[in-house]
Amino acid sequence: MDDPYAPARDALAGDELAGDAADADPAVLAARLDDADPLSSFADRYHVPDGTLYMDGNSLGPASDAALASLDRVVDEWRERLISGWTDADPPWFDAGERLGEALAPLVGAEPDEVVVGNSITVNIHTLVGTFLDELLAGNGPEREGVAAADGTWAPDGHPDADPAVLVNDLDFPSDHYAIRAQLRQRGIDPDEKLRVVPSRDGRTIDPRDVEAALEAHEDVGIVWMPTALYRSGQLFDVERITEAAHEAGAYAGFDAAHSAGAVPHEFDEAGVDFAVWCTYKYLNAGPGSIGALYVAERHHGLAPALAGWWGHEKATQFEMNMTYTPADSAGAWQIGTPPLLSAAPLEGSVELLREAGIERLRKKSLALTDLLIALVDDRLPEVSVGTPRDREARGGHVALEHPEAERLSAALNDRGVVVDFRPPNVVRVCPAAPYTAFADVLEVVDGIEAILDSDAHEAYATNEGGVT
Ligand SMILES: Cc1ncc(COP(=O)(O)O)c(C=O)c1O
Repeated sequence: MDDPYAPARDALAGDELAGDAADADPAVLAARLDDADPLSSFADRYHVPDGTLYMDGNSLGPASDAALASLDRVVDEWRERLISGWTDADPPWFDAGERLGEALAPLVGAEPDEVVVGNSITVNIHTLVGTFLDELLAGNGPEREGVAAADGTWAPDGHPDADPAVLVNDLDFPSDHYAIRAQLRQRGIDPDEKLRVVPSRDGRTIDPRDVEAALEAHEDVGIVWMPTALYRSGQLFDVERITEAAHEAGAYAGFDAAHSAGAVPHEFDEAGVDFAVWCTYKYLNAGPGSIGALYVAERHHGLAPALAGWWGHEKATQFEMNMTYTPADSAGAWQIGTPPLLSAAPLEGSVELLREAGIERLRKKSLALTDLLIALVDDRLPEVSVGTPRDREARGGHVALEHPEAERLSAALNDRGVVVDFRPPNVVRVCPAAPYTAFADVLEVVDGIEAILDSDAHEAYATNEGGVT
């Protein structure tokens, strides 16, 4: 069958989920979906403790047999080979950044040398935003209609000496703003003036028309920096539309893909994206604090990275130890220091598993899971609102459930083995990640929320306990 989850869509299309027809009974529907699910056997290859419903893979993905095996292999290589592992391990550690980047490239629609793993998201934002600010300050702008390549003529219309601004939004992950502000400051640019923030109309989402309007209103924008998906509501952005708007305005388009990489297929090359960053500890399941990843479009290879280091040096001559830095002619140039091999090794296995499942099939299943979740919430939890766009095109991998007692509700769910997370002020994020979540799990989560709210069990929990998962 072309789309094994189509029956879910059909059954969920009506207003009422519960009805006379067997297909509309949620338990029957969930069981049928699980039976038809071509990815159902993948769950056995991930480690989620018995009795736990793990709905937090958008914060930290679980371990898989494959990830633990690639980690164990590198640990063994360290034990047995010591320093020679850099060159003699199979494969050698020396090019782990490039090799793992190549494995990730198909997930984001990139060529192998446009992706590399290294550093962390925040560090990668520093180096990439810094790099492109330097380009703008040197007068170079993005490739655009009528201008084949950066040509030394970037300047806001009528203001040849204006400093470039960076366009962000007010629902971004805070670390992104901290890093961009610091990069502006380090170039003597006042971030209070030049970090331009697109406001949200509803506190949940960003309307792409507001990004376009901001670009019309402010000719000094040199970089548009947006998430591919918002961390709180899970709104998925139209990467192509934002990129096009940025380029038309003479700005680079960069993206934080932390909340979609590994869950949503991307086509960065086709969309014309200039640069992007993401992590590997969420949907890529490579472990806590695992190595970051970045994309730089081929047309920008050869630029001098803002945070240069020897691991970004041209590979062939890196060990000649020249004092003059020659950046690698690939995204590899944005590596900085020695890659943390033990934080990179699990990625090899975890990506292989995702590639076996197929990113398109994972996305299809993810949408069916979130369709079911949203329909059940609408049907059974009248006091809970769905803060995630219902439009499938604008929905990432998790669903934001809004409730005034979200913090207590989240604590009560976690206590009962339903692992979710709370994001202030009123959001419980529920992530039924496709590789290891069954449709029956989604039903159990909603049963759990209903039971807690009906019995007021959440009132036994304190608020403001702090801690971020
Ligand atoms: C959207 C987003 N951006 C940036 C970060 C920061 O990532 P890191 O701590 O790896 O630098 C996170 C962390 O969860 C995130 O979710």
